[in-house]
Amino acid sequence: SWTMVNIADESIEAVRERVGSKRAICALSGGVDSAVAAALVQRAIGDRLTCVFVDHGLLRKGEPEQVEKDFVAATGVNLHVVDARERFLAALDGVTDPEQKRKIIGREFIRVFEEAAREIVGGAEGEPVEFLVQGTLYPDVVESGGGTGAANIKSHHNVGGLPEDLRFELVEPLRTLFKDEVRRLGEQLGLPAEIVWRQPFPGPGLGIRIIGAVTRERLAVLRDADAIAREELTRAGLDRDIWQFPVVLLADVRSVGVQGDGRTYGHPVVLRPVTSEDAMTADWARLPYDVLQRISTRITNEVREINRVAVDITSKPPGTIEWE
Ligand code: XMP
Repeated sequence: SWTMVNIADESIEAVRERVGSKRAICALSGGVDSAVAAALVQRAIGDRLTCVFVDHGLLRKGEPEQVEKDFVAATGVNLHVVDARERFLAALDGVTDPEQKRKIIGREFIRVFEEAAREIVGGAEGEPVEFLVQGTLYPDVVESGGGTGAANIKSHHNVGGLPEDLRFELVEPLRTLFKDEVRRLGEQLGLPAEIVWRQPFPGPGLGIRIIGAVTRERLAVLRDADAIAREELTRAGLDRDIWQFPVVLLADVRSVGVQGDGRTYGHPVVLRPVTSEDAMTADWARLPYDVLQRISTRITNEVREINRVAVDITSKPPGTIEWE
């Protein structure tokens, strides 16, 4: 619309004025906000922006490719990919406590980002990187009391805690926008619908959707089950009606089942589709039975380790959206 074109043009111009001929760096999470912020800054300063994508191995099926291929194809952005999958697995080895998982993932993320930033700063010709682009939205600003820090819950993606000698000036081009405005801006900037309309996904990713310790094998199982649930939701045309749809692997729970001609002793997954306005409160989504049926049948047929599918019918409060 007329207004969005204006917002895009004005924001691009504002970033251009602010950054001038200097350089900027940005962490891409695979989420909408960082993608739109990066696309906007790329329009403003082109190759003087470098995006860093830390692949922590906790993303869903196809998401690293979405960042590495689709986002780059749509924006032409300069991308620096760090494959940190082994490092995150090692750091998470044997850890079952939810807050501990978050701390570890957040800490490793900052370390990996810092290493990448040093490389980019050091390797750049001419002047060093001076700006850090963040996809902070208006609700984040409000939640954190209007300061420069974003809401704590998003702390690891907003890359707080960088060392003193790596201090950047922040560029937060989405600071005045709400989520729906960010999505429209993303469309305006030519980002693919799969990125723009992505449902919110927590920074710690699948790490907090495996109840129990995170292992490579468990991640693979959850990734497959999650992909099926997402596929069926999309096929039913319900993506935009559902706020989030976590699939949770109860990795330390086993139950008896019968699959094919044999007894199985597999793991359950829990489907957690919710509707919400802002994630502060949420209601369990009344997905049509036939959609639930297809998801259940496909997961138990196609993911050998899973022999039971349950649906979470708890609202928030008292349940949180995520299980950890
Ligand atoms: P809960 O589970 O508290 O989640 O109802 C509310 C919203 O926040 C997301 N979430 C997180 N996002 N880091 C994030 O970036 C986190 O540690 C984290 N924990 C929860 C969750 O997906 C939901 O959108």
